Amino acid sequence: QKNVGILAMEIYFPPTCIQQEVLEVHDGASKGKYTIGLGQDCMGFCTEVEDVISMSLTTVTSLLEKYKIDPKQIGRLEVGSETVIDKSKSIKTFLMQIFEKCGNTDIEGVDSTNACYGGTAALFNCVNWVESSSWDGRYGLVVCTDSAVYAEGPARPTGGAATIAMLIGTDAPITFESKFRGSHMSHAYDFYKPNLASEYPVVDGKLSQTCYLMALDSCYKRYCHKYEKLEGKQFSMAGADYFVFHSPYNKLVQKSFARLTFNDFLRNASSVDESAKEKLAPFSTLTGDESYASRDLEKATQQVAKPQYDAKVLPTTLIPKQVGNMYTASLYAAYASLIHNKHSSLEGKRVIMFSYGSGLTATMFSFHLREGQHSFSLSNIANVMNVAEKLKSRHEFPPEKFVEIMKLMEHRYGAKDFDTSKDCSLLSPGTYYLTAVDSMYRRFYAKK
Ligand code: ACO
Repeated sequence: QKNVGILAMEIYFPPTCIQQEVLEVHDGASKGKYTIGLGQDCMGFCTEVEDVISMSLTTVTSLLEKYKIDPKQIGRLEVGSETVIDKSKSIKTFLMQIFEKCGNTDIEGVDSTNACYGGTAALFNCVNWVESSSWDGRYGLVVCTDSAVYAEGPARPTGGAATIAMLIGTDAPITFESKFRGSHMSHAYDFYKPNLASEYPVVDGKLSQTCYLMALDSCYKRYCHKYEKLEGKQFSMAGADYFVFHSPYNKLVQKSFARLTFNDFLRNASSVDESAKEKLAPFSTLTGDESYASRDLEKATQQVAKPQYDAKVLPTTLIPKQVGNMYTASLYAAYASLIHNKHSSLEGKRVIMFSYGSGLTATMFSFHLREGQHSFSLSNIANVMNVAEKLKSRHEFPPEKFVEIMKLMEHRYGAKDFDTSKDCSLLSPGTYYLTAVDSMYRRFYAKK
């Protein structure tokens, strides 16, 4: 099949959010810790009427409507999520309500779970299906959906919530360079959810940052190696126009891009100029472990990488900074930011994607961009996603109210036999919301 990739996208995030500046004061954190230290502006969250299922129903319905896709044309539906609502019944089966209504129950695919990586696993499954002999000519649909919430403490400001839906098929404006992929998978306890009675993860924040950067190094080396083997020439950062990272918080993205610069320096790549070589020379003899721990190296690489960061990464950071960590949707929300900011000048560009899920699983892969045709064009995708308007029409909550909602959600998690307030006044028309969970834990949704 030719030019298999992403034909269309839609994004949804809750209309409810809290400013990081406000949360900083409330939490008694030093001024600038969340905004400059973590690099975050605002955090979106679900109130009691929204969850990963309602957000997915909203996003999928909207994608099908806005791109005028007949639900019968979907042959595979894959969901990536780490938000556990049911340990057996997949989120995908909830979404089947949309398709059953139209007489389509012939849809393969279930959910994929491993921290923030599930969305990438789902995406690869769909792309592989379209490229395979079992493909029946219909579209694949990928849904990345998560609500990221943390217990009170240093991780709380790194929450977020969103759903992304992506339509997969041939002749796509966003095509996969499937030959160039580098993965790194291993066993780590950096972030996990062993307590099934709680929505909150157990997280070793420092370890998770190091695991992320080690996985990044390893994936980048493998990506470069594959490229060099197939193309017969060296790959360096100069070979890509944009870099999109899984974004738990923006500071880690800044560090990641800087880390790639250090990799290029160590590989003696053509992308590193003389002045950068001079600045990084003192660090060339550090062992791997020393390099992850060195604050001086971090500073030097970030300084060297700054101009390239502004050109190749900054346009991808809007939604992750405004909404927070969206777990499986985070990488694709960063990518959606790029389309939002640059859709008219992306033709012919290469975009490197880095997906990381704690535990841990990671892959670096790349897209080649083309303008596309009709509704499946980069400019129409930007148009449909309408990111600026969605960000602008959000409602900022005071911290007391946010904390109150988090408390209520703790009680609701895993509970049965309750009605929600059914208050959908803040939701825009067409949004699905949770109305009740009955005595058999069955969930009921309505559409505004
Ligand atoms: N002004 C400016 N910067 C400040 C200020 C201030 N007043 N105060 C602190 N900072 C800086 C710190 O120097 C640090 O930056 P640096 O790393 O460049 O030095 C940054 O703000 C964060 O401060 P820390 O003291 O390191 O923060 P803390 O340890 O309290 O929490 C953490 C940060 C570990 C990221 C926590 O939020 C967390 O555990 N989050 C969840 C885990 C996570 O997201 N991991 C990422 C990968 S795994 C995943 O995707 C879930």
